[in-house]
Amino acid sequence: MTSGNQGSATKDPSLLKLGGAPRPDLPSLANETATDVERLCADLERDAMKGLWTVQGRSEALSDIRPHVWTWKKIQAYLDRAGSAMSLEDSPVRRALMLWNPGAKDHWDATNTLTAAVQMMLPGEQVITHRHIHSALRFITHGRGATTTVNGGKITLSAGDLVLTPNWAWHDHSNESDEPIIWMDGVDRPLVKMLDAVYFEVYQNHGYQPVVKNEHEAGFQTDLDGLDLSRYSPKLVYRWEEAERALDHLEAQNDISPYDDVLFKYSNPINGGPITPTMGADIQRLRPGVHTRAHRHTNSAVYHVYRGSGHSIIDGERFDWEEGDYFVLPSRVWHEHVNDSKTHAAVLFSINDRPAYESLGLYREEALTTGNGFQS
Ligand SMILES: [Fe+2]
Ligand SMILES: [Fe+2]
Repeated sequence: MTSGNQGSATKDPSLLKLGGAPRPDLPSLANETATDVERLCADLERDAMKGLWTVQGRSEALSDIRPHVWTWKKIQAYLDRAGSAMSLEDSPVRRALMLWNPGAKDHWDATNTLTAAVQMMLPGEQVITHRHIHSALRFITHGRGATTTVNGGKITLSAGDLVLTPNWAWHDHSNESDEPIIWMDGVDRPLVKMLDAVYFEVYQNHGYQPVVKNEHEAGFQTDLDGLDLSRYSPKLVYRWEEAERALDHLEAQNDISPYDDVLFKYSNPINGGPITPTMGADIQRLRPGVHTRAHRHTNSAVYHVYRGSGHSIIDGERFDWEEGDYFVLPSRVWHEHVNDSKTHAAVLFSINDRPAYESLGLYREEALTTGNGFQS
């Protein structure tokens, strides 16, 4: 480094501010003046470079993603308005409300890796066949009798069912029932976009794929366009009855997590792994009066309150939730859940990006050891 004042400059604390809080583990810039360094930074940026010292320490800070609750009351009112304002017959457009994290600055997603949306289809509506490299899932929250067709297999869905549309699988949706159907969409879109891997294709002539499989074949498919079935679950539909039975069994066995109470992870029947390599899904029961202990982990998650009411303490702040609400858990923040009812269980469905962290070796989890494991 060159400096006209070299040797005579005193250590200026403002130099250290260039990189955020002082870092005793980093080399000092004692022989530079603020002016020298500022000039250097400006010259570097002009030549498409950046001094590492200007950003050191910032990568460890939490992201801008914030905890937030979206109430069913508001979502329902907006869905009603969208139902009156938009008609979707044979349309590529979706009547879906994206849950936009209030901290997200340059995207409209719930976290930096997960898109969550609440979508409604009215009786008679259909969405044309398409496919994309994103993995997507739908958890039905209201209604019965709508269908999702995946790779020629038509699956009829009711509240509490989870259906997967894996990477590059042709799929379309229709509501052949006589009532609106509403579901939670989970998509790994921000992650795929960040990795610059987006592909999307519409079926020939903006039409519909033929149905060539029966309902049983539709729900368990081993011909997923060459996908590795150890990474993408061939089981495409998880019925509510199965999930409820699994929760009953775990509770009866006293198989309880101190952080999640009774939790069933939707998994790949081939190997017990996650349902997709990028996105997982869980259903959990908080027994009456349960207050879980606090932990934190690298993955983020978006929750739907399928049954009951309660609150979560996230990063020291209380967030109340009721049936139908959604809330988001950012990465790396302490959290604990409370079922406020002494008589009724609460049931939370959630999506998460944990499989991506695990496969990249980035998953890390930590229990709170102070305050008896609870945030103050
Ligand atoms: Fe899709
Ligand atoms: Fe957690």
